[in-house]
Formats: sequence, C-alpha cells, structure tokens
Amino acid sequence: MRHLLAAEGLDRDTITELLDTADGLKQTLLGREVRKLPTLRGRTVITVFYENSTRTRVSFELAGKWMSADVINVSAGGSSVGKGESLRDTALTLTAAGADCVIIRHPASGAAQRLAHWLSDTPAAVINAGDGMHEHPTQALLDAATLREKLGSLEGRRIGIVGDVLHSRVARSNVHLLTCLGAEVTIVAPPTLLPAGIDTWPVTVSHEIDAELPSLDAVMMLRVQAERMHGGFFPSAREYAIGYGLSEARAALLPEHAVILHPGPMLRGMEIASRVADAPNALVTEQVANGVHVRMAVLYHLLASEGAESA
Ligand code: CP
Repeated sequence: MRHLLAAEGLDRDTITELLDTADGLKQTLLGREVRKLPTLRGRTVITVFYENSTRTRVSFELAGKWMSADVINVSAGGSSVGKGESLRDTALTLTAAGADCVIIRHPASGAAQRLAHWLSDTPAAVINAGDGMHEHPTQALLDAATLREKLGSLEGRRIGIVGDVLHSRVARSNVHLLTCLGAEVTIVAPPTLLPAGIDTWPVTVSHEIDAELPSLDAVMMLRVQAERMHGGFFPSAREYAIGYGLSEARAALLPEHAVILHPGPMLRGMEIASRVADAPNALVTEQVANGVHVRMAVLYHLLASEGAESA
C-alpha cells in the first residue's frame, strides 16, 4: 500500500490485515506502563489539518509517537496557509523538509487524492484524515475494529447508519468497508439528507428509524454537519431529534446484544440522548481508543512493513 486515500477500493484481505495488525498492537500495548515501540524510529509524520478535529488529529499524533516517529502538527490557522500558500506548495514544502508521511484533513472532497498526485515524485505516503463529504477511511477502520471486537465476524450482521448521510464522509467510508466485510447496511435518513445516487449504493434505504432498530446488530448515529449546510438546516434541529434522534425509548427498541456507535463529536439531545450516549452498549469511547491502534496499524503498513512501497 502506497497511500490510504479511501475505503473504496480496499479489498477484504487488506482490511482484515489492517484490523488484525491494529488488534495485535492493542494486545501488545495492553497494561504497559510505557506505550512506546521502536517501529517508526527515524521516520517523520506530519499532520496538516485545514478543518477542526479532536479525535483524528490527537489519535494520529499518539499513533506516531507510540511507534517512536517524529510527529509534527500543522494547522491551517498557524501556518503559511493563512498567508495564502496553496495546498500543493504546502505539501511540497513539508516533503522537502523531510516528511515520510503527510496526513491531511481538508474541506474539499478529493484533496487527499490531489495531494497524492502532487507528491507522486516523492517517497512520502499520504493518509486521508477526512476530505469534505468524500471519505474518512481510518474512521471506518476504527468503527469496524470496534464492531468486530463486540460482535465477532461482521458477515451477515445488520448495521444501521442513521442521520445526515448527505454530508457524511464517515457514512461513505463505512458503507464501502462494512459491506466489503459482509455486513448488510441500512441507511436511515430524512429524504433531504440523502445524497443523489443513493440507489446505486450497496445498501437498503429507510426513512423510518423505529421500524429498523429492532432488527439491527449495531446502529451508527451520524453527526449533523451544520457547517456544510449553507442553505440552512431542514428538518430543523427539533424535527430531526423527534424523527431521527436516538432517544432512550428508541434505544430500547434495539435487540439486547446490539451496540451503538457515534463517530463524534456528538450533539447530545439532538442526534443521541445523553443517557443513551453514556449507556454500557454505547461504544463511543471504545471507538476513540481503537482509533489510536488502527492509525498505528495504517502507519505501520505504509511506513514500516515489508509491503510498504517506495516511490
Ligand atoms: N470522528 C472524527 O473525525 O472526529 P474529529 O473531527 O474530532 O477528528
């Protein structure tokens, strides 16, 4: 693997290998006082975030540091991006300075792909940490890792993805990844928050959350992305909560074994009731913890494994 730009196109063997590596790293570090492996000593990882992030940026930084890489974080606000420097010049600057891997979050769909193109003459790997409404592949990997941990094989498992699918890179990556692992995905959303072309996705589509919950093994609530809704928000926050929010009454419709995921950040009271978010079957903190191991696995495969490709 040269870069990780999308979940689309990853085959089942590659996904399984990444998840197994993440699990192995998790077991290796379990209970250790000092979480430090020498694997990426001497390698330089640079994160470049043009959009806000807590979970993804911090977990990539920890992932690199726990494997002894030098990790540098660049944010648009505090860099020469604020003076008008282009993404291409920023990326070439970072690789000229010695980056072995550039991890990018950007509001434009396709930004990670462009970056990989511009850096094709360098040995640097590119990881997509979320590009616009396109993809967020490491989020889907950490979601799959969390689901596998709780449910075992995802073959034939019924997973609901609920909410603002239109603007969600998390939904797109999860649909590719979860269906590749054999899960049956049902998308539940108001008609106004579904993308054009949803009929070509390998999913079932529903507008009725209450009808779907009793048959799910897992439900993934999405964040409502108000920052991408330039024309306003329809349905309103109140209508959304009534129609699609995971209230306590709704969560009780899930089978006893079912689990609840949310990629965060959560809008408590709107997307998910606070008590539901904090319930034992809600795996939000497990998702975050698994995110570090999954991102370690991705860095390992890109920078350290025998399969890591050079330019
Ligand atoms: N899930 C996710 O991408 O969260 P952050 O925006 O905090 O990184």
